[in-house]
Amino acid sequence: MAPTPDNLRSIQKYRRTAAAYDATTGPTWPIRMRCIELLRLSKGDTVLDVGCGTGLSFEPLLEQVGRQGTLIAFEQSPEMHAQAEQRAQGLRAQGWQVDLQCASAEEVQLPARPDAALFHYVHDIVRTPQAVANLFGQFAPGTRIAIAGMKYFPWWLAPLNLFAWLKNRPYNVRAHELRRPWSLIEPHLRDFHWKPTQGGMGYVGSGRVKGAGL
Ligand SMILES: C[S@@+](CC[C@H](N)C(=O)[O-])C[C@H]1O[C@@H](n2cnc3c(N)ncnc32)[C@H](O)[C@@H]1O
Repeated sequence: MAPTPDNLRSIQKYRRTAAAYDATTGPTWPIRMRCIELLRLSKGDTVLDVGCGTGLSFEPLLEQVGRQGTLIAFEQSPEMHAQAEQRAQGLRAQGWQVDLQCASAEEVQLPARPDAALFHYVHDIVRTPQAVANLFGQFAPGTRIAIAGMKYFPWWLAPLNLFAWLKNRPYNVRAHELRRPWSLIEPHLRDFHWKPTQGGMGYVGSGRVKGAGL
């Protein structure tokens, strides 16, 4: 499948933001760590980093799965992927198992079924039906999912939503879809729970993939 117009627009956005990306992520680091904790990883697990960006989650994920575990990751922006690949090479040289692809969520073919999958600030992926269908079609029942990202403020802070949209726009094509950003993945999950972060402008949630007996 050729890249969709949304894929191309997203790639264009990250062509502009990739070089400075890591420096902008400091304030959300506690949310990243909370999201990773929600995956309840064990040594030997296979974990997927969806839309891994520059690979900032690689080290904390690998610490949880250990050298006997595997990290699978994919990213569609060539500029973000190049930085992630550099990180992955350094980690492989130290004996960690990292399988990284430059691919879109709509098309990626995972090399293995993950035990857990991290969706950290991948708004455009979780708002794209083809991407969600492709990924969840490759997850086994029971796969643990953790997700975090931006959302609109609750109604009583609605005037601040212009700020939320403006903050989201440099990074996301579907920047206006901030009401219930998890709504396309929620039907695939059981025991889905989420909590607000950042005074209501963000969320972090988790659940397990539904399936036979689950
Ligand atoms: C805000 S960044 C988050 C990166 C990383 N998850 C993190 O926590 O630092 C969103 C990433 O999703 C990627 N992305 C957006 N749409 C995508 C798609 N359809 N397939 C694969 N990656 C995508 C972008 O290129 C970007 O690197």
